Amino acid sequence: MPSVLFVCLGNICRSPTAEAVFRARAGDSGIIIDSAGTGAWHAGDGPDPRSRAEGERRGYSFAGQAARKVRVQDFHDFDFILAMDASNLSDLKAIRPENATANLSLFLPDGSDVPDPYYGGPDGFSQVVDLIESASDFWLAQIKASLTHGAPKSAVDSPSTKA
Ligand code: 4NP
Repeated sequence: MPSVLFVCLGNICRSPTAEAVFRARAGDSGIIIDSAGTGAWHAGDGPDPRSRAEGERRGYSFAGQAARKVRVQDFHDFDFILAMDASNLSDLKAIRPENATANLSLFLPDGSDVPDPYYGGPDGFSQVVDLIESASDFWLAQIKASLTHGAPKSAVDSPSTKA
């Protein structure tokens, strides 16, 4: 089954939201979905209450989520690793092993960042869900295409994969 890991800095705001939204969109497709942070400050914590409130208000479930730090094994275990911003992508590239099989990319197809909402106001959390909702259908199509067209690396046509 194809698998996708969403990555942000703390794994309590953006990537848990992406996990929740994508799980809802993926339905019973069987795609394996997880999230992680490049930092470990919040390891074991549930999603930030502000992210959770905005996501749940829109009907998404955060049940069972607990933050964890990204690990080298993730580059072998997941087909797609999607970074929420350029800093996350840079941190992931720094730890990516030579023989990684994961397709590493920015999450937003236009190559822009999902802004970190942690130190901002409520609008930031709403914008995060907007951006994640808009990009999730793109990735769902890409991941489903990888099922029928073989290796994920050849199935993705995103500017950020060429970085
Ligand atoms: P996230 O947001 O990367 O979207 O989970 C953050 C959460 C926590 C911190 C920074 C960003 N922090 O510095 O603790």
